[in-house]
Amino acid sequence: MRIIEAKDYADLSRKAANVISAQVILEPHSVLGLATGSTPIGTYKQLIDWYNKGDIDFSKARSVNLDEYIGLDGTNDQSYRYFMDNNFFNGINIKKENTYVPNGMAEDLEAECARYDELISSLGGIDLQLLGIGHDGHIGFNEPGAAFEKTTHIVELEETTIKANARFFGSEEAVPKKAITMGIKSIMRAKRLLLIANGPDKRDIMEKALHGPVTPMVPASILQFHPNLTVVYCFE
Ligand code: PGA
Repeated sequence: MRIIEAKDYADLSRKAANVISAQVILEPHSVLGLATGSTPIGTYKQLIDWYNKGDIDFSKARSVNLDEYIGLDGTNDQSYRYFMDNNFFNGINIKKENTYVPNGMAEDLEAECARYDELISSLGGIDLQLLGIGHDGHIGFNEPGAAFEKTTHIVELEETTIKANARFFGSEEAVPKKAITMGIKSIMRAKRLLLIANGPDKRDIMEKALHGPVTPMVPASILQFHPNLTVVYCFE
């Protein structure tokens, strides 16, 4: 495990973007596992900036996202597809058809989970997976208690996650109660992991995740077992 302390959020974003950029420069066909949330926004902005300067070419890259709300389609401004298009994909030259987000509108959601796992395998697996961490230790939508051996599956969101996300939806009632998420097993299969955490409110959970016992009650704690984990954090 490599643990890198950043000076501030801008520094964290540059360092994370540097890792992703190196991946794409060294392997242009990389499969990037991507994440939503407030933490990666600066990383995506930095990558867009470097793309505009001509430093990175995403034309051969592929991407798979961790999760999506059930019941929201890509035109809904709270969907994760919308987030990714607007915070990243529209600013770079990745081909839209090579960007994958689970389909939260699928009629058969179980089949959609199986399709997503097959898709990741058919792409050759994830080369670099970017991860944020929730205050309860969740990664993707794998909430405390989630079995470590799960691949893509459907989850009911925890009350704390619904509350944390209510700010984006205007009210708790408007937050979807279910999501499709890659499982811990899908995440652990990625060749490299890049975990980013920003802000004083992430200090406690990061301490538990990186240095506490490995337990399903802290889903991110399993990352301690990954052979190629890089962590970039700033608790200021
Ligand atoms: P945040 O979310 O980046 O908005 O803090 C992280 C997460 O819940 O995975």
